[in-house]
Amino acid sequence: MNGIFLTLEGGEGCGKSTQLERVAEALRTRTGREVVTARSPGGTAVAEKIRAILKTREPGEDLLPETELMLFGACHAQMCEHMIRPALTRGAVVISDRFTDSTLVYQGCARHIAPETVARVNEFVCRGTRPDLVLVLDIPVELGLRRTTGRSGGNTQNDRFDSESAAFHTAVRNGFLELARREPGRFAVIDASPSPEQVTQSILEAIYARLAIL
Ligand code: TMP
Repeated sequence: MNGIFLTLEGGEGCGKSTQLERVAEALRTRTGREVVTARSPGGTAVAEKIRAILKTREPGEDLLPETELMLFGACHAQMCEHMIRPALTRGAVVISDRFTDSTLVYQGCARHIAPETVARVNEFVCRGTRPDLVLVLDIPVELGLRRTTGRSGGNTQNDRFDSESAAFHTAVRNGFLELARREPGRFAVIDASPSPEQVTQSILEAIYARLAIL
């Protein structure tokens, strides 16, 4: 049986992490297949160390967009080799909370690195491993930011991404919608404003409609 690679993408506070576990559990029950969950940046020992550098503000020395691109690329190389490809080879379903489409949107659209450069880095680090289906959880920026602010007890200052401007987060939202518009066969946009139960249902329907997963 062939492995299947799914990703959950979207802006801050769209509920990806909650949905990752809910969708993984539903797929295990319904298909009986091995389902492996991952998150980017992170998921392997080295990638988790790189995550700490990427997420935390270093007083007096912010990361350049180029540095971010290289570090996310390094994470994705480690994830592909040590986690995603072995699982796909076993025939598992892999679901990742973010992957290289986040790099296209955050480092490309929001940090203004040329899209061709980001795409080349993504191809280089993944060696042909790419998601079969990208589920974009879409919510208005203000709602997403209210959720992340609530989660962090009102203090998002230490997180290099959560603390970005509304313009940055709007560029991220528009970036994901534009990717989905360009590649409708490989992307599904899910309205992430309703209850978690309803969002899980919409995600599962999109997966069953598009992939021979059962
Ligand atoms: P999260 O795990 O809480 O979503 O945090 C990861 C942050 O990293 C999130 O703000 C998006 C950002 N990110 C990028 O900028 N580029 C990438 O390639 C990935 C995977 C994440």
